Amino acid sequence: MPVEPLEHTPASDGPRHVALIMDGNGRWAQARGLPRALGHREGVQALKRTVQAAPALGIKCLTVFGFSTENWRRPAEEVSDLMGLVRTYVASDLRKLEREGVRVRILGRRAGLPADIAQIIERTEASTAHNDRFLLQVAFNYGGRADIVDAAQRYADRVRAGEATGPLDEETLGLGLSTAGGPPVDVIVRTSGEQRLSNFLLWEAAYAEFVYQNVLWPDYGAEALADVVEQYRNRDRRFGGLTSAPALAAG
Ligand code: IPE
Ligand code: IPE
Ligand code: MG
Repeated sequence: MPVEPLEHTPASDGPRHVALIMDGNGRWAQARGLPRALGHREGVQALKRTVQAAPALGIKCLTVFGFSTENWRRPAEEVSDLMGLVRTYVASDLRKLEREGVRVRILGRRAGLPADIAQIIERTEASTAHNDRFLLQVAFNYGGRADIVDAAQRYADRVRAGEATGPLDEETLGLGLSTAGGPPVDVIVRTSGEQRLSNFLLWEAAYAEFVYQNVLWPDYGAEALADVVEQYRNRDRRFGGLTSAPALAAG
């Protein structure tokens, strides 16, 4: 059976959507003899720098991994520090994001979050919903497997309510994911030298490019992001077909 071509722009145009696994806050702090919490605090500064730098690099959407469904396994104090970062980031930057045309979307499960965080999330999404210059997606209490399970459950609920009938296809399941409606992920970046997904964007990663950078997240910024764009531009995205490079295709 013929397969629909995946929607994509050539790699040479640069990535529209960059997804970042912001890793290495703890090691950054440890290397300085500081508590891990300070690494997370510096991580917020790095996030601000990175969001600022993205539009000039032609990027239209950033998705960042802030807290995974597995991060609840960390000591209670660290979990509460990480929750606190949402408060800090939103309190210090929401006005600016609003003003600069950034739409903020939070991916992941709301259930289980402290009530004030859930409220902050809702307020942030509502107050930036009209913005369309740039999309910032923050994966928080997010797990790729949980997101796929939730999408399947949504579909099952719709079938039970008589709003949908089978057979289920990729497009329909995709509509139930928390990333639905956003641009396809072009490249997934992980900092700190680790090379794994850790349950980030499992579905969306299907044909994403991967870039691993040795920089620890608190040191991240414009330069490291520009390096991602450069690496991406030199990739040959095939999507299961043959090379997209015109010279090779002609030969
Ligand atoms: C990434 O830094 C931030 C989160 C996971 C929230 P880590 O806290 O994982 O830092 P390392 O991996 O211990 O250095
Ligand atoms: C992934 O990093 C989660 C975030 C960056 C928020 P982790 O540091 O939690 O992943 P593992 O435990 O090293 O796989
Ligand atoms: Mg880590």
